[in-house]
Amino acid sequence: MLVDQFGRNHNYLRVSLTERCNLRCTYCMPAEGIALRERSEFMSQEEMIAIVGRFVNFGVDKIRLTGGEPLIKKNFSAILNELSKFPVDLAITTNGVLLDRYIDDLKKAGLNKINISLDSLQEEKFNRISRRFDFKRIMENIQLTIAENFNVKINVVLMQDENIDEIVDFILFTKDKEIEVRFIEFMPFNGNEWDWSKTVSSKTIQNKISEHFGLNEIETLPLPPNSTTRNYKIKGFKGQYGIISSVTNPFCDSCNRIRLTADGKLKNCLFSNHELNLLEAYRHNENIDPIIQQIIHAKKEKRAGIDSFESESAALIYNANRSMTTIGG
Ligand code: GTP
Ligand code: 5AD
Ligand code: SF4
Repeated sequence: MLVDQFGRNHNYLRVSLTERCNLRCTYCMPAEGIALRERSEFMSQEEMIAIVGRFVNFGVDKIRLTGGEPLIKKNFSAILNELSKFPVDLAITTNGVLLDRYIDDLKKAGLNKINISLDSLQEEKFNRISRRFDFKRIMENIQLTIAENFNVKINVVLMQDENIDEIVDFILFTKDKEIEVRFIEFMPFNGNEWDWSKTVSSKTIQNKISEHFGLNEIETLPLPPNSTTRNYKIKGFKGQYGIISSVTNPFCDSCNRIRLTADGKLKNCLFSNHELNLLEAYRHNENIDPIIQQIIHAKKEKRAGIDSFESESAALIYNANRSMTTIGG
């Protein structure tokens, strides 16, 4: 088992399949894009499956596929098929653009959990934030995945002066649909021009919701184990909403996550700039198990040692981290 110094068992592996993405969301991708790299710098399908196998051996039982955008990976279906042979719960986080192409493959692999990023319900605004024109297709794909009985969560990164005015609309979107909409506090990463003034805190989110619906109409739902999200529901609504407060109120006590990047590096925390190169060791025929144990042991108690995002020392850590698109969330 991958238990760290604080007693947290790491049974949830997030695997980034690619650093690239077919959208260009401002809060995720640096304006200049990301540098193109040689193919050989990334894990091949065989390497990825072999490395993932070591984690499964260590007790990992949940794997989430991330990116960049995982569905632009050319051999996505083949990777999915291989992963489905492991005794794990499979999940994916996607921008939704290509979902229609993969519905059957996802079903065949038994992948039921789909988190879809959608930052606005307004076409023009969505396209502006994502610097592309895929709003209609994504909305159709959200309807399709709901109709096909997938467990769908919508991820909304809230930003001041951008989509804060849509909190109520997003909750109304859950009225007749069995989905969850999750509001995410904007987090700092290299190149995403994070600023406190752009961040919408969980407190502000809750205030806006109770102002509109009334405090008595909000039901607090039980906290699932190891969850990033505090969940709520408006009474009578089919769906629910959640808040992910990594900035103002992180959930590190129950963290069970470990991350494998597309270039085969291991990260013990979303905010950590300390990485170990599993792929290189694997290519040199080294035993990678001790490296996995080493990074779990080195995991800090909270946010890679960032106590508050206000300090200059915090900026040194998150500016030395990767851009979000190369981590996968
Ligand atoms: P579930 O399995 O449905 O709980 O999904 P998830 O929240 O693990 O994953 P998803 O990829 O949908 O991420 C939603 C948001 O939570 C993103 O903004 C992620 O960056 C953030 N997030 C995911 N995992 C972690 C984590 O371990 N720590 C922190 N601080 N944020 C995380
Ligand atoms: N802050 C918070 N969430 C982010 N995501 C991407 N960048 C950020 C950020 N800076 C979200 C995406 C996606 C998930 C993997 O992470 O919206 O849903
Ligand atoms: Fe885990 Fe780091 Fe996220 Fe905290 S900030 S929950 S330690 S990944």
